[in-house]
Amino acid sequence: MAYKASAINNRRYLGNKYKLLPFISKVVNENCTNVEIFADLFAGTGAVSSAFHDKIIITNDLLYSNYICNVAWFGSEQFDKEKIESIILEYNLSDPVEENYMSINFADTFFSRKDCVKIGFVRDDIEKKFNSAIINKRERALLITSLLYAMDRIANTCGHYDAYRQGVEYDKHLELCYPDASNDNNSQNKCYNMDINRLVDDIYADLVYLDPPYNSRQYCDAYHLLENVARWEKPKVKGVARKMDRSNLKSNYCTRLATETFEDLIDKLNCRYILLSYNNMSNKGNERSNAKISDDDIFRILAAKGTVKIFSEAYKPFMAGKSNIRGNEERLFLCKCK
Ligand SMILES: C[S@@+](CC[C@H](N)C(=O)[O-])C[C@H]1O[C@@H](n2cnc3c(N)ncnc32)[C@H](O)[C@@H]1O
Repeated sequence: MAYKASAINNRRYLGNKYKLLPFISKVVNENCTNVEIFADLFAGTGAVSSAFHDKIIITNDLLYSNYICNVAWFGSEQFDKEKIESIILEYNLSDPVEENYMSINFADTFFSRKDCVKIGFVRDDIEKKFNSAIINKRERALLITSLLYAMDRIANTCGHYDAYRQGVEYDKHLELCYPDASNDNNSQNKCYNMDINRLVDDIYADLVYLDPPYNSRQYCDAYHLLENVARWEKPKVKGVARKMDRSNLKSNYCTRLATETFEDLIDKLNCRYILLSYNNMSNKGNERSNAKISDDDIFRILAAKGTVKIFSEAYKPFMAGKSNIRGNEERLFLCKCK
């Protein structure tokens, strides 16, 4: 039986740097020496880490849904590929009908009622298998990742969960694919799920890659539903978009505290190189798209830590439907720490 597999980039994610990997790798290869430990501390999908799989990888993200995908892709615990494939097949062939948390709260919103019943059934079953030791932690992460990627493929949205289209035909249905992860990851890889400013006191890396949110759009708002399903704490949801309480998932990097939070982070980082992605949307788009940290502040803060070089490449910004802004570049700030 041939199984459909998903790769790390087979999902939609705001600010995903997958397309910039050649640029990022080139800057690292040409300017940094002896990088053995690579830390991707606003990791999101983990796309950037995937280009550094020959190194010890440290990932971190505030969202549990990203953490769980990072464990699936970069974790070092061994998994049984055949077992995962057969569970995925079992889920794809299942036809559950019983109401559950998903169908009660989300029927005919982002997904059809039938797909909600299936998502809820699959997610409950992953937890049951884990609690009865049928699957280990990495296998649990692989199955949740498979479910999140499958949801993303059929969601009735333009890629995030702030809103859904009303009155549509749900023509695509849930089909889980096997996440094509490796059993040969470095045994010293580590994945974290913390606020970065709290984590940095405890880690060392040769190179730290930073890709913070740069505007007021909170990731926990855009991806509340994937986060809800990943956590599976079955919270109350409200409003048209059926959001759970996300107050403990808000990021300072999306607020007016961004500059001082960034300064505190850079000051505390224990590493030889810092590579920062931050684009130049400042004051060009609408208010929500404007960058929270000015170029002057970025430069001042990094220069206090070491010698700074800037690299740039043209790119197309995300503008929620409006893509008429030209002349934007994706910049990489490389700081060689003192
Ligand atoms: C621009 S995205 C990173 C995209 C990633 N490089 C990729 O290629 O998929 C920023 C990420 O930072 C995370 N984040 C925001 N604030 C954070 C914080 N204080 N600590 C840790 N992660 C945070 C968000 O959840 C989001 O996934």
